[in-house]
Amino acid sequence: MQTDSSFTFVLFGGTGDLSMRKILPALYEAHRAGMLAASGKIVAVARHEEDRAGYLQWVNEHVKAHVAKSGIDENAWASFVDRIEYVKLDLGKAEDFVKLRDALQDHAGTRVFYLATGPSLFVPICHALASVGLNQNARIVLEKPLGYDLRSSNAINDAVGEIFAEEQIYRIDHYLGKEPVQNLLALRFGNALFEPLWRREWVESIQITIAEELGVEARGDFYDNTGALRDMVQNHLLQLLSIVAMEPPHSMDSDSVRDEKLRVLRALKPIDPRDISKVAVRGQYHAGVIRGTSVPAYATESGVKTDSATETFVALKVEIENWRWAGVPFFLRTGKRLADRVAEIVVNFRAVPHSALGASALRAGANRLVIRLQPNETIRLYCLAKKPGEGMNLSSVHLDLAFDQFFKEGQMEAYQRLLLDVINGRLALFVRRDEQEAAWKWVEPILNEWAASGKPKPYAAGTWGPAAASAMLAQHGTCWLEEEN
Ligand code: BG6
Repeated sequence: MQTDSSFTFVLFGGTGDLSMRKILPALYEAHRAGMLAASGKIVAVARHEEDRAGYLQWVNEHVKAHVAKSGIDENAWASFVDRIEYVKLDLGKAEDFVKLRDALQDHAGTRVFYLATGPSLFVPICHALASVGLNQNARIVLEKPLGYDLRSSNAINDAVGEIFAEEQIYRIDHYLGKEPVQNLLALRFGNALFEPLWRREWVESIQITIAEELGVEARGDFYDNTGALRDMVQNHLLQLLSIVAMEPPHSMDSDSVRDEKLRVLRALKPIDPRDISKVAVRGQYHAGVIRGTSVPAYATESGVKTDSATETFVALKVEIENWRWAGVPFFLRTGKRLADRVAEIVVNFRAVPHSALGASALRAGANRLVIRLQPNETIRLYCLAKKPGEGMNLSSVHLDLAFDQFFKEGQMEAYQRLLLDVINGRLALFVRRDEQEAAWKWVEPILNEWAASGKPKPYAAGTWGPAAASAMLAQHGTCWLEEEN
């Protein structure tokens, strides 16, 4: 399906890493799949390249390599590049924004400003756009991290909010654009089977893991001032949690979905600073081995302070204070340089209340639903079955729903979906200001406590993080699901 109307997609940070790796490849994929209106334009804005020819050379050299899924179709690539215009712009120069306005004057259709820049530039860019009237009838896309804490995020939201109305603002959390996250909504609200069980009476605990094998790559400096709690928990993990735990929305329209997610975020049991060591574990990776390759310690990565106390791993026990979830622990975990790259949601259902089949019917590992977001998108339901042969011996077996076997085509990368949604004016997969505030409010006591005292616990790269993360679950009679990919 093509975008509803013509558009002009103005990309600030047009020569940045994000544009190169994600945004331009996603636009190319949408173009190749015939999903962009023929008259739609991409106007890249940067200060490094002199002119369009220079910019296109940069695009050819840097973007092509990141178009992974389909490879390059040279005809489609040529017509994609035809859509691209370039405006050299120095953010400090008011006259450059006049130049931008003039360049956009003849462009019809929806106007999108995508700020693929550092957050410190969001407010100056919005002011400069408003000074030449470009905030009218436009949409603005803000990349994470949006602020450093509640105060700084409010400051950005207040300032941007004076220039753009909330329904013009698209705050990206790319996890919301992932196909399996969409599928979670379909699973929960499209099937009568799961919903009655999706509550405290039947669910013992829930785990959400986003584990990475990668370290901080070239972003040591940024990451060392950020840490895993800000980089992954405040946004991606709490967003996933809110989708797992939300009540059925009345429809899939943007605000119905976001209202329900917000209710979950507001119902998160506040963390008492005195309890933080019981419900939160932070770690930092030391040197280790991942898939046979030695990798260095975090503290020796470029851009990182040698005595850094920044966490590269977080595990949390979270509770939701509402009727559906009271007393059910949600365990969240994320880290860099872990044993595997995996993102998944594990719903552990309660064992049968009485076993007529002997003690083996009470064993852990059955009655479990695992929603694998990446890699290999699957939904796996573990059940107990009788082992063949004499007697009634039970064993854990599983039913698999592997999406790539059902749907051979049509898969989309998160950014492609989200960019199409911006162009088409669909806000459901973008974070509303009140959600973001609720998430910052909840993490803030942990941020403060960790900033004030202590250090992360060490873990060797290539493992599943500090032992304390497992001990936290052991106290609840459970353990992290760690299966080989
Ligand atoms: C980003 C974080 O938001 O998400 C990165 O800033 C992290 O540190 C990335 O690596 C993980 O995303 P994905 O889609 O690769 O799981």
